Amino acid sequence: MQLTTKFILAIVSFCLFASPSWAENNARATPGSDLLVLTEKKFKSFIESHPLVLVEFFAPWCLHSQILRPHLEEAASILKEHNVPVVQVDCEDNNLVCLQQTINTYPTLKIFKNGRLFDAQVYRGTKITAEITQHMLQLYEASVIYLDSEDEVQPYLENTTLPVVINRGLTDLNETYREVALDLADDYVFLSLSDSKNKSLSVYLPNVTEPILFDESVDAFVGKPDTLTQWLKVVVLPYFSDVTPDLFPKYIASNLPLAYFFYTSKEELDDYTDVFTQLGRENRGQMNFIALNSTLYPHHVNFLNMRAQFPLFAIHNMINNLKYGLPQLPEEDYLKLKAPHPLDKDMIAQLVKDYREGTAKPIVKSEEIPKEQNSNVYKIVGETHDDIVHDDNRDVLVKYYATWCIHSKRFAPIYEEIADVFGSDESIRDKILIAEVNSGANDILSFPVTGYPTIALYPAGNNSKPIIFNKIRNLEDVFEFVKESGTHHIDGQAIYNELHKVKDPEESTQDTVHDEL
Ligand SMILES: *[C@@H]1O[C@H](CO)[C@@H](O)[C@H](O)[C@H]1NC(C)=O
Ligand SMILES: *[C@@H]1O[C@H](CO)[C@@H](O)[C@H](O)[C@H]1NC(C)=O
Ligand SMILES: *[C@@H]1O[C@H](CO)[C@@H](O)[C@H](O)[C@H]1NC(C)=O
Ligand SMILES: *[C@@H]1O[C@H](CO)[C@@H](O)[C@H](O)[C@H]1NC(C)=O
Ligand SMILES: *[C@@H]1O[C@H](CO)[C@@H](O)[C@H](O)[C@H]1NC(C)=O
Ligand SMILES: *[C@@H]1O[C@H](CO)[C@@H](O)[C@H](O)[C@H]1NC(C)=O
Repeated sequence: MQLTTKFILAIVSFCLFASPSWAENNARATPGSDLLVLTEKKFKSFIESHPLVLVEFFAPWCLHSQILRPHLEEAASILKEHNVPVVQVDCEDNNLVCLQQTINTYPTLKIFKNGRLFDAQVYRGTKITAEITQHMLQLYEASVIYLDSEDEVQPYLENTTLPVVINRGLTDLNETYREVALDLADDYVFLSLSDSKNKSLSVYLPNVTEPILFDESVDAFVGKPDTLTQWLKVVVLPYFSDVTPDLFPKYIASNLPLAYFFYTSKEELDDYTDVFTQLGRENRGQMNFIALNSTLYPHHVNFLNMRAQFPLFAIHNMINNLKYGLPQLPEEDYLKLKAPHPLDKDMIAQLVKDYREGTAKPIVKSEEIPKEQNSNVYKIVGETHDDIVHDDNRDVLVKYYATWCIHSKRFAPIYEEIADVFGSDESIRDKILIAEVNSGANDILSFPVTGYPTIALYPAGNNSKPIIFNKIRNLEDVFEFVKESGTHHIDGQAIYNELHKVKDPEESTQDTVHDEL
């Protein structure tokens, strides 16, 4: 009982009730001030896109909120210069956010760091401009530890389990360094020796004496926190390493193409380690190299579009999801092997080089090219897709389907009927091709489809881009779509009507015969 009373008191200790007589909503930021007002819609993305934000959760009718407003506006102006936004959320209008943030009293000030929505700290200092500003600035700078001399560095190197980043005398980098430090404070230690004559940026890995030195002009990082962050994320990765699942996220986070070596034995891994370490060094910042135990991760190759034949080398570009690999054997030849077939080290280096130069060919998953086409629906496979759909003379309508998809199954007979209509006359067949792709068995790199069935029209001529059909999948709407979107404006409905006019008398004769029976 007492606890409940305490709790209620806590809630109402600032604002007891609304008092409409002087509720002029003047707790809300003056238009044009640096204090921003956020709505529920924008809240998440705003927090996520700023490393450090001070948020006031307020109620417009609350006197304490009203008193705080000018202080916050002033703090906002000062902090703006350090890229620390100060924002307001009106809890009357944005109930859900305030509920999620467990706001019990108005106003509540919370500090959001590193784009994290749910572990903001409550600001408990005095709610006046000077204190708020000072607190935020301290926080902003705290993630970098400022040292006066080299002697102070050693203890940090000795005890750390984290990589230690040291900025020696690169004062142009101050701002960017601080910004990145706030972001990465959980994974690195950031030191700054502003007075050092030795101007350098280096990273000391735990238990490694030799630091990694950034050996280009630091201008590359000034004002570019993303670039510095990327460098730090890559530089801590080994040139080549046998990865365990806990390391994998670091490779994903680096966003670089990942080169995989799947090995079958310790001896094999040892045999290739020098080659891959060298490649890792040469391609630092462009591609990461890892080894995987093929016994532990045999299925991972499926997603690399390769067969489970080991040892294996493949490259995955995580941005566009393209995959590259050394040629593999036909399955029956692989099964006949008495011992693992070694990979050619020169071919590995060549594939990496070709990849870097943009001349490597991705592995396209494709069915065999059909020897004959025996339906009005033309079967396209991964390898033939781009050549077929980009036709100078014909509009090409393509259905991308999945065998497991019920909507694909339902639409199949309708699509066949459409194909039969357009295939009914040679003069029409010269102007339009009706085709389909089994998307489960064929990668279409130029047009990755995610929903099935997807119907698209490639108008005749000029490497045209696909136009996607997004109406109801029936005869009439597809005919209409082809007529409107195609280069030839073929009227499928008219052809259909014509065909049925000819057929109808026959059918009715047959019907009559039936009736007579
Ligand atoms: C490092 O560890 C030693 C011994 O445990 C300790 O005396 C020293 O204070 C630590 N230094 C820092 C900077 O944490
Ligand atoms: C560093 O070396 C010590 C002693 O050899 C070891 O206990 C520790 O786990 C190592 N730390 C890292 C991060 O590898
Ligand atoms: C960078 O920070 C140091 C230490 O706070 C300061 O002495 C120096 O003047 C700053 N330099 C610039 C260019 O901001
Ligand atoms: C500057 O520091 C780097 C990294 O610690 C070091 O490799 C280099 O030798 C130093 N240069 C001078 C002139 O002290
Ligand atoms: C690969 O994994 C298998 C299965 O856990 C294990 O027996 C083998 O020793 C591992 N190979 C190496 C080189 O670690
Ligand atoms: C293809 O594009 C060129 C230049 O954009 C144009 O001159 C030509 O008429 C186009 N051909 C067709 C078939 O659309």
